[in-house]
Amino acid sequence: MAERQLKMGIIGIGVGAAEMLPAIDGAENIDLFAGADIDPDVRARFGERYPNARVYDSAEALCADPDVEAVWISTPNRFHAPMTILAARAGKHVVVEKPMALNLTEAEAMLQACDEHGVKLIAGHTMSFSPPIRYMRQIVRSGALGPLAAINVFAYTDWGIRPRTPDELDPAQGGGIVYRQVPHQIDCIRLIGGGLLRSVRGTTGAWLPGRSITGYYAAYMEFEGGVPAVAVHDGSGYFVASELVPWGNAEVFYDAEARTEKRREMREGTRPEDAEKLALRIGGGEERGLVRGARRAAGRRKWQPHDLGILVVSCERGQLRQSPYGVYVYDDDGVRDVTLEVAGATRQEELTELYNAVVLGKPVFHSGAWGMATLEVALGIVESARTNKEIMLTHQVEMDPSYDSTYPVAIAEDGNGHDPKP
Ligand SMILES: NC(=O)c1ccc[n+]([C@@H]2O[C@H](COP(=O)([O-])OP(=O)(O)OC[C@H]3O[C@@H](n4cnc5c(N)ncnc54)[C@H](O)[C@@H]3O)[C@@H](O)[C@H]2O)c1
Repeated sequence: MAERQLKMGIIGIGVGAAEMLPAIDGAENIDLFAGADIDPDVRARFGERYPNARVYDSAEALCADPDVEAVWISTPNRFHAPMTILAARAGKHVVVEKPMALNLTEAEAMLQACDEHGVKLIAGHTMSFSPPIRYMRQIVRSGALGPLAAINVFAYTDWGIRPRTPDELDPAQGGGIVYRQVPHQIDCIRLIGGGLLRSVRGTTGAWLPGRSITGYYAAYMEFEGGVPAVAVHDGSGYFVASELVPWGNAEVFYDAEARTEKRREMREGTRPEDAEKLALRIGGGEERGLVRGARRAAGRRKWQPHDLGILVVSCERGQLRQSPYGVYVYDDDGVRDVTLEVAGATRQEELTELYNAVVLGKPVFHSGAWGMATLEVALGIVESARTNKEIMLTHQVEMDPSYDSTYPVAIAEDGNGHDPKP
């Protein structure tokens, strides 16, 4: 019997939502039933693309629709907590974009509201759902390479020069690279290492001309038990980490020429950022670029470091890192390239976790508590940068070990026809 469809609404149909749409379109068990946005252009474009969907001009109106079962919240950061609470009170299950909230008080209130109203809450932070990261976790947990010794991840991207709305340029509203990108890197580090970080020492930088928000952070963390982890993201975009992999294309959001042009426009104050942002949203001239990016991440195209960066897991008897189509496993016998059916974050994984939790009654793994623990690390980096001190973490939770058996990672037996040596 065919699975029933889950009726989902999107609140905030912006750039992040545009990245999700190909995954939603491809998910047979998800019915994109409604969309809400305060921008009339966005609403009109959504209505054109999805003529059967109900269109609302506010989160309140969408949440009042009794037929909507779950909502995807991809509004600006400051709305994540209040809209999650609104949706929970209306009995809707919630996937919330990163960062989950602006502070831990908000995050706690979100957990409480979802608990009280008996709805599921998923922290949809994307990268840690990706099969190569989950495969690395599974190898670490298997003990095949000995105990975990260290995790390091380095991202060099053009994050700092992507088009932004005024709220994204306001640190008080969760603007800045720490809030936006830590959820990717730290979620992955926590997933691979089990989840329980003990402390963080961090620093941030905001040196990009024309930007008031942070465009750089570096964090040194330790897990309970002392295993170290380092995360760095430099979003200044002169150099990008995909230049470092032999199959890389020196492109993240922009190619090298466009990056130079954007910086020039920012220096001269001529950049039409509002128009650029709108062009990236649904139906805009640049939306297709995002879709291409999402497809690239979808598995059969070569992986690029992009916003997660190059992540290396060191165990006492081997190391792991991402290969073009999977994971390189280095051990005392040499190196193996384990090709995976899906080699990137397709965003299907987030929808699958939602569907399985709501319709099939499976556990939520990237839960509200999981997202809150990652948020605590982001806030810890900011606090550590301010105080020059190590911050002890008190809200960490472990990833439920049944995650691995519930969502096993599919290995591609055909090897995708490429050279298995790095
Ligand atoms: N998981 C990912 O990889 C990923 C990627 C991109 C963005 N995001 C997240 O998505 C969120 C939005 O970022 P974006 O880049 O899409 O910004 P955006 O400005 O393009 O999108 C926000 C959308 O929300 C709408 N909106 C604003 N206030 C609203 C309100 N009160 N009610 C309803 N709609 C409202 C805006 O009109 C806009 O269309 C951020 O939290 C960001 O971190 C996540």
